[in-house]
Amino acid sequence: ESVPLEMHKVRIVQKLHLVPIEQRHAAITEAGNNTFLLKNRDIFLDMLTDSGVNAMSDRQQAAMMVADDSYAGSETFYRLEERIREIFGTRYFLPAHQGRACENILSQVLVRPGTIVPTNYHFTTTKAHITLNGGTVEEIFTSDALEVTSEKPFKGNMDLEKLRALIAEQGAERIAFVRCEAGTNLIGGQPVSLQNMRDVGRICREHGILAVLDASLLADNLYFNKIREAECRDMSLREITRAVADQYDLIYFSARKLGCARGGGICMNSEDLYKTIREKITLYEGFLTYGGMSVREIEAITVGLEETMDMDMVSQGPQFIRFMVEELARKGVPVITPPGGLGCHIDARAFLSHVPQAEYPAGALGSALYLVGGVRGMERGTLSEQRNPDGSEKLADMELLRLALPRRVFTMSQVKYAVDRIVWLYENRRMVGGLRFVEEPSILRFFFGRLVPT
Ligand code: F0G
Repeated sequence: ESVPLEMHKVRIVQKLHLVPIEQRHAAITEAGNNTFLLKNRDIFLDMLTDSGVNAMSDRQQAAMMVADDSYAGSETFYRLEERIREIFGTRYFLPAHQGRACENILSQVLVRPGTIVPTNYHFTTTKAHITLNGGTVEEIFTSDALEVTSEKPFKGNMDLEKLRALIAEQGAERIAFVRCEAGTNLIGGQPVSLQNMRDVGRICREHGILAVLDASLLADNLYFNKIREAECRDMSLREITRAVADQYDLIYFSARKLGCARGGGICMNSEDLYKTIREKITLYEGFLTYGGMSVREIEAITVGLEETMDMDMVSQGPQFIRFMVEELARKGVPVITPPGGLGCHIDARAFLSHVPQAEYPAGALGSALYLVGGVRGMERGTLSEQRNPDGSEKLADMELLRLALPRRVFTMSQVKYAVDRIVWLYENRRMVGGLRFVEEPSILRFFFGRLVPT
């Protein structure tokens, strides 16, 4: 058995509480069975997300102390700009307050009513912004993507034939941009190969279509490129990053995930695009040298990006996730394989096979796991979808409960505790029923909708 080793030591800690089950029952009921609405004080292991909750390094904290505060022209910004230029090789960088802010602006600039955005897989906020601007998201994943149990190394790859067919059928003019998410979020943190990025980049160039990378989960993806792709084995992470970046016209990211702090940004080479997007940054985010971020956050991102070029840093998350996935699989719990990035993903459709999909099995499982263990996961299934334009329910391709492992946050014994509770719940799964909405927001409903047992 290979147990991952932490290549860091913990020097700042935060006390946790494991409140009694009666209190957990009251808390999840008050939260409308939606784990987003729980309060941190009632949570033992917060595996909701990796967003904004990765551990910071001593070097990041130190950099935050020397930030240069000014509305315009801060040295801090130029340090980040320089680091981005060095790592991605892109000329222009525009800061934004987080990933969805980049998506808002990109959608406003690039999406027109009737246009299409082909993607390997959508993300919730990305799709919401594209549809808000009148566009449609077209998913062109390969047949591997939705296989729950698999040994395919790159389930996040785009299907090249489907992409070509879509361009032929719709015409390149109708395509606002092609979006690649590396790694993926909603299909279990599955990576995209460098080869696939190259192929997609080439098809986009052939047709004069803008190629866009959502690099929010790039740290995990780089790890998988390095260990699963033959051509990357002898490349440094820096070299792989450059090879990845070279395939795209534009790269955006949530720095809450990549770089370990807050914030986000858009990187590109085209001066025209930069000038167009720049106007929206000042309108929605802030001046061009902070974009809604504090200078302290910007300093932390600069150091965090540098640290992402270190295999010890990027391997910690995926190795812990692999451990958790393999332990659960060994005990018969249905999980997404191969293990990906971001977190361990439980297949709620198989786990709660007695709960119909329209009763949100992944949401029900999230509520139940909190109840039995104080562990908070995130529903990534039908609840996280938006209804079809006609109001009918859009059943998700995959019904997942995601247990995120923010980087360098949890210890091995905490992971083992979570495994123990999940196995117990699996053995007692018949106790769990479905959910129905009592309060359903019209957009991004998973964030603050309330549900009760059916
Ligand atoms: N793109 C991807 C692939 C993401 O995973 C996220 C956020 C975003 C964009 C939006 O970035 O949150 O900074 O506005 N994912 C978080 C998660 C929320 O928990 O999966 P943001």
